[in-house]
Amino acid sequence: MPPVYRKFMKNTILSLMVACFGLAMVHTADAAEKITHEQIEEVMKKGFKAKLHNDLAANKEVLAKYAQWLAAYKPEKGDAASWKAKTGAIVAAIKAGDQAGLNKAANCKACHNVHK
Ligand code: HEC
Repeated sequence: MPPVYRKFMKNTILSLMVACFGLAMVHTADAAEKITHEQIEEVMKKGFKAKLHNDLAANKEVLAKYAQWLAAYKPEKGDAASWKAKTGAIVAAIKAGDQAGLNKAANCKACHNVHK
């Protein structure tokens, strides 16, 4: 391979690597901001359906993460103020270690009726 061509190849490969890295960074930043339907599915199945919220003391860490996802999510149905009130109550109860409050806030039917 002639040296000029080699240099061209090297530059091209380097540029491609930089471009890919840049894309990966943008992608990661995006994911951190926008909560996906898949994440909510995980919250519902591995959190609520698995009844993690029935033992707040034992599951506080993962519940807190799930509550943050919920609060940041924008459901397709129902209005934003209602979502904020419902998810805010869940976040607050978990933060306070308030099991009774969480039982009340994690009302499946009340939320599904409006937002699911
Ligand atoms: C703060 C609101 C809220 C509460 C509380 C809530 N859910 Fe949900 N749930 C939703 C929404 C919204 C969806 C629809 C999924 C979406 O929009 O991405 C959903 C979907 C689901 C699904 C279907 C997941 C799937 O896509 O496969 C299950 C199962 C579920 N919820 C179980 C529960 C159970 C059990 C409880 C109570 C212990 C509960 N949820 C409490 C909002 C809530």
